[in-house]
Amino acid sequence: MKTPSTTSARLAGRIKHLTGSVARDILSRTQDKEIISFAGGLPDATLWQDLKLPEVPPAAYQYGPSEGEHSLRSILAERNNSLGLPATPENTLITSGSQQGIDLAAKLLLEPGTPLILEAPSYLAAIQVFSLFEAELHTLAVDTDGICPQALDRLLTETQAPAVYLNPTFQNPSGKCYSLERRQQIAAVLDQHGTLLMEDDPYRDIYYDEAPPAPIASFLKSAPWIYFASVSKTLIPGLRLGSLTCSPELYDDLLKLKQASDLHSNRPAQFIAASMLADEAERAERIEGLCQHYRQKRDSMQQALAQHFTDLATWEIPSGGMFFWLDLEQSIDLYAALEKTLEKGVAFMPGSPFFTEKCDQGCSIRINFSLVSPKSMDKGIKILSDAVRDLQQASTCVESIA
Ligand SMILES: Cc1ncc(COP(=O)(O)O)c(C=O)c1O
Repeated sequence: MKTPSTTSARLAGRIKHLTGSVARDILSRTQDKEIISFAGGLPDATLWQDLKLPEVPPAAYQYGPSEGEHSLRSILAERNNSLGLPATPENTLITSGSQQGIDLAAKLLLEPGTPLILEAPSYLAAIQVFSLFEAELHTLAVDTDGICPQALDRLLTETQAPAVYLNPTFQNPSGKCYSLERRQQIAAVLDQHGTLLMEDDPYRDIYYDEAPPAPIASFLKSAPWIYFASVSKTLIPGLRLGSLTCSPELYDDLLKLKQASDLHSNRPAQFIAASMLADEAERAERIEGLCQHYRQKRDSMQQALAQHFTDLATWEIPSGGMFFWLDLEQSIDLYAALEKTLEKGVAFMPGSPFFTEKCDQGCSIRINFSLVSPKSMDKGIKILSDAVRDLQQASTCVESIA
């Protein structure tokens, strides 16, 4: 019998734009190994060791509505309302993680060559989706307060991009949080151009100083918007639940895209999430505990970095979220550094995959602090700094010989 050729299937043209996620590749290389991993964006599993999930009633075993369970939509809409968004259950759609919301929005908005503006650096898996749909990606650098509103204005005029994707609150990967003023200015620019805002906000509840300013979408007066939220970082990511809330005129098409994609999100998971989020006081208490737990980890990481990285890199201390972003003083091959650290049981994320191909990337490292125990942080950061220092010294030697 003839063995079918693996190359005979004629694939859609867009598949050549399909990139794998470097973060997921690193994660799969480190699975089942005793490894200190700063690479992913994983919550701390010790937090749910004793968690008892609510029992799911058999009624939730049946197929359900594509928009999601009304009880969960109501809870999430109320929460979004408290942030200043005009949200009701009727413009809230439950998604299979906020990642699915990004995918549905990309299907709604992007054709090959559609200009789209995002941050540099930006969330890796969003770049992956937008590239698959063959958008023409334009980026704006993020400074301490966010992207520059004047630069956004100029780029919108130049590209006529119909949409902008931003992760303004404890951004993945940079950890930056846009100031209130920037948020208001960016909303005004978007209103002026009539540009749709995709705002991705999974880290909002995890803050270490003061609560972050309201979402940019809450300041929009006329521009359309889609706001993505998630329960992954504050409940458990394995539920695979998120939500999108949007301008009412976008809702029906997004709902049909959801139907075509998976009919509806997991109902037992929705039941569990609705039960766990129903009591606001309980929710607030859980989040406070979470913030305290991660604040200690953020502080331990800062201590380890101050000890080992001061001569190698600069960084800002994140006021929320799960990441430090280091800008190295001297460029090196970070994939070579990764091979070295993996041999010694430490994983991290080189910064380059968080940039689109076109823009200037510098030499940066993303470090996740939510997963690793404070005990292992110093050991892991020392191994990482040794690898970076060795490569920096080696490249200095080569330069001076040349
Ligand atoms: C910025 C950002 N958006 C979206 C997601 C996807 O989250 P989920 O699909 O688990 O809700 C993540 C996950 O790390 C993220 O960092």
